[in-house]
Amino acid sequence: MKRERPVVSALQKFAKDKPLSWHVPGHKNGLLSNLPKTIKEALTYDLTELTGLDDYHHPEESIAQAEKLLAEAYHSSKSFFLVNGSTVGNLAMIYATCKRNDKIIVQRNAHKSIFHGLELVGAKAVFVAPIWDEGTNTAGAVSAATLQEALQLHPDAKAVVLTYPTYYGVAGKELELQIKMCHELGIPVLVDEAHGAHFIASRLFPPSAIQLGADVVVQSAHKTLPAMTMASFLHVNSELINVEKVNHYLRMLQSSSPSYLLLASLDDARDYIDGYLESDAAYLKDKRNQWIEALRSIQPLQVVEVDDPLKLLLRFPGFSGFQLKEVLEQRGVYVELADPYQVLFILPLLKHGQTYPFAEARIRIKEAILSLRKKEGHTIQTVSPINEYTTVSTPEYSYDELEQIEKEWVPYMRAIGRISANMLIPYPPGIPLFLPGEKITVAKLSQLEELLAVGAAFQGQHRLNEKLIYVIK
Ligand SMILES: Cc1ncc(COP(=O)(O)O)c(C=O)c1O
Repeated sequence: MKRERPVVSALQKFAKDKPLSWHVPGHKNGLLSNLPKTIKEALTYDLTELTGLDDYHHPEESIAQAEKLLAEAYHSSKSFFLVNGSTVGNLAMIYATCKRNDKIIVQRNAHKSIFHGLELVGAKAVFVAPIWDEGTNTAGAVSAATLQEALQLHPDAKAVVLTYPTYYGVAGKELELQIKMCHELGIPVLVDEAHGAHFIASRLFPPSAIQLGADVVVQSAHKTLPAMTMASFLHVNSELINVEKVNHYLRMLQSSSPSYLLLASLDDARDYIDGYLESDAAYLKDKRNQWIEALRSIQPLQVVEVDDPLKLLLRFPGFSGFQLKEVLEQRGVYVELADPYQVLFILPLLKHGQTYPFAEARIRIKEAILSLRKKEGHTIQTVSPINEYTTVSTPEYSYDELEQIEKEWVPYMRAIGRISANMLIPYPPGIPLFLPGEKITVAKLSQLEELLAVGAAFQGQHRLNEKLIYVIK
């Protein structure tokens, strides 16, 4: 089958004739750049909306063709290339479905971009609590029963926002049922599938939310497909969604000078997944299984598999994931994230015959493990899961109210029972521990202290080094 990459081809055609630049960007096809040679070379293609290169916000030529191929690959009615990550896709899907004070049902362990969307729109959040996933020691999917409860209590919700899969590759089995439940009430389901852009590649992976009937699905192509950082997709497949509205907000929220390097890499990533065969998946499965077996022979390493075969967790009993990450990095092995229990590896979406340094990585992982084994007197700091979320909850204050109310910084111990005035986010994975308008409980404070003790990093407006928390006065 002839493979097409319209944006890549248009860029190549344009650059081939050695055009003279009297336009932006100011690096002038790289001529004025002092970047190292390898980066500078890519600047030849860092072009802008010139004749022959289409217009990102009103595509009619190569970008339109490439987005059409994307929609065909994912079986959506309309798909968009995003140049500002899944972040902008999440914002746009919320803007396109909700207005100020509209109710929206949201999975509590959503990425911060979802909460930012709620805040920007001024929507009224109804949170649905996830099930604690024992396999990964993380918050997992929401159960259908919990969503049912939320829908019964709030049938007037304008949308349901779910995360599928989680950062740790937990997919849950009830998404299709949940989508059906929402559709019976005419409520669209918006899915943050940032970590599942590869799901359509093969039966080896869980089904994509788009295959299960979700109305809008946002995917970070850059996370698991061979796309550049920030490059993402948004798919719409629904009568319940006004595509023009989605487009309107994407135009508003994204740069008027989109990076053509990102667009080209999205075009290439779509082509990659479109050409992915079951024989590629069989090869990947084989390589992965061999590697897992080889890792399991390193004592006392624990290898934990999850729903998504591209994700793998490694644990060393008695040591935190942060400690494991440190010794791995000392040997040049960089993982996606560490948490108190484990490190998370993201495996490559290999095609048949492609090689990857599995054997080299195993040697280095073994060395790292041996070095940890020599360390004395270790005790793992545990972090207690927060199991206290009621299945369906609403924050004590709306975003509008929060804006008006006076706030103050208080020491940790005085924060118990108070209402949080901001978001506090252990990062990664970027799932907020405190949300504005939510009560600060003993369990949450304990988790904060435990996370700090094991070396977790935090994002959000905070003064944790002074042991202060921002609350409603
Ligand atoms: C679940 C989830 N959603 C959304 C995002 C944001 O994606 P991006 O970095 O592509 O903006 C992330 C990023 O880590 C994520 O983990």
